[in-house]
Amino acid sequence: MNSKYKLIVSGDYTSDQVKAFDRDFDATFIQQLESIVEIKPLIREQVEAVAFKGHKPLEFDVKKFDMVPNLKVISNFGVGYDAVDINEATRRGVKVSNTPDVLNDDVADLAIGMLIAFSRKFLVGADWIRSGNWMRLGEMPLNRKISGCRAGILGLGRIGREIANRLVAFKMDIHYHSRRQKRTPDNWTFHEDPISLAKSVDFLFIALVGGEETQKLVSASVIDALGSNGILINISRGSTVDEEALIEALQKGSLRGAALDVFCGEPNIDPRFLNLENVLLQPHQGSGTVETRAAMSKLQRDNLLKFFSNQSLLTPVN
Ligand code: 8YV
Repeated sequence: MNSKYKLIVSGDYTSDQVKAFDRDFDATFIQQLESIVEIKPLIREQVEAVAFKGHKPLEFDVKKFDMVPNLKVISNFGVGYDAVDINEATRRGVKVSNTPDVLNDDVADLAIGMLIAFSRKFLVGADWIRSGNWMRLGEMPLNRKISGCRAGILGLGRIGREIANRLVAFKMDIHYHSRRQKRTPDNWTFHEDPISLAKSVDFLFIALVGGEETQKLVSASVIDALGSNGILINISRGSTVDEEALIEALQKGSLRGAALDVFCGEPNIDPRFLNLENVLLQPHQGSGTVETRAAMSKLQRDNLLKFFSNQSLLTPVN
């Protein structure tokens, strides 16, 4: 009989991550949480822990909880846990953990990189060489400067602050809106609401948590306030933005552009994004480096090991 702790591992993991689960646990793997129904009832009924990776809003819902009636802990891969119904977890006494902090640098790096790549048109530049335009036509068209502009951060949490710190090095004025005013350098400006923030900046970085409370916080009015000179950069969740309003503004040119790493319904994104010139699209790769994913994976497993040794979770969310 296997003396290791039983675990259901749901999601798409690298082979190293799978090996690590196998080393530490008696793991049953599924690619998608919806396949939990295919796991033998005997295993589902015994299992007390799920390692979960996914970001479909509220994917881990009442029905999934019913599949694992003795569940005690969900260890979420990712800082964002909007895929888990936290209220339901709490009601059932199920603890949930996430993987904060270890990904802050990578996500902030990507946010800054996307702004520069968008504004200096890296993809157009690369194509200018490959297509022979450089030889044929000479210099590529001029682009727009980013240093010294005004930057807004919507959500000055751990990732938002890393973005702001980097923008200071680009000599930008920092503006932000958060649920509460934060302790910041004196020259950072707090705004009471997202519209006032959007009105005051050239670039708006979305670094909000996902979930119901931030659903479409970036509304048509916020997008309108950012205006035809403004760029929206989203590295948080697609759900935080009114995508219909965003697409309309991009089509009309009432917003200069958007650099997006996250989308509603990803990976099946709204096809209208693909026809726009004024966007830079990335496939939700914010935390996607070898180093950071290894750190997230370790933290996910370490939370489970703490649970199984009756100790407090390292990074609990409820
Ligand atoms: C994903 C993320 O977890 O941490 C988050 O909230 O969105 C990402 O780091 C990662 O893409 C795996 O799905």
